[in-house]
Amino acid sequence: MNKEEEMQRIISRIKDCRKCDLWKSRLNPVPGEGSLDAEILFIGEAPGYNEDKQGRPFVGRAGKILDELLESIGIDRSKVYIANILKCRPPDNRDPDVDEINACIEYLDRQIEIIQPKIISPLGRFACEYIFKKYGLKYDKISKMHGKIFKVNTLFGSISIIPLYHPAVATYNPMIKNQLLEDFKTIKTSELNIC
Ligand code: URA
Ligand code: SF4
Repeated sequence: MNKEEEMQRIISRIKDCRKCDLWKSRLNPVPGEGSLDAEILFIGEAPGYNEDKQGRPFVGRAGKILDELLESIGIDRSKVYIANILKCRPPDNRDPDVDEINACIEYLDRQIEIIQPKIISPLGRFACEYIFKKYGLKYDKISKMHGKIFKVNTLFGSISIIPLYHPAVATYNPMIKNQLLEDFKTIKTSELNIC
């Protein structure tokens, strides 16, 4: 199977998935989207109201910020891949619970293996905690970790983990927005070929 077929297979499984209770309240699952050859993979927390309605990641207010951040370093959204820890929206945007993450995470793990990015940027606490645990890194507060580069070895080579604040926080906190703009410059200057 090639990458496209593999990803299609994952997406079909997500569309039929009932492994946790979130399928009951979702309108649309949000598997993720972008280039399967992306050098950078952004990982958010879970779909919100707009994402659930459209079945696409980061299309609401947080998405607008993410678009601005990408534009600030001249990267086209179509060149990256954008996914979430959970593929279905938790009711009222509540935090994901541990059982939901455990049920859903195999999809993200598979997406990482298919895309084989050079950089993974987890957005916000839930994505950062998961990615740090996955790669055997010790996680501290996001206020200490954001914008730093953590190199790890994977089965498909060395990658950089660059944890970031969640763009949703920047919708009400201009200081965080500035910090995100700064941290995106770190992404731009790390070994990407697409910038
Ligand atoms: N917030 C997220 O974490 N993910 C989305 O897709 C949208 C908002
Ligand atoms: Fe399945 Fe994940 Fe949706 Fe739960 S959140 S139903 S595990 S796709």
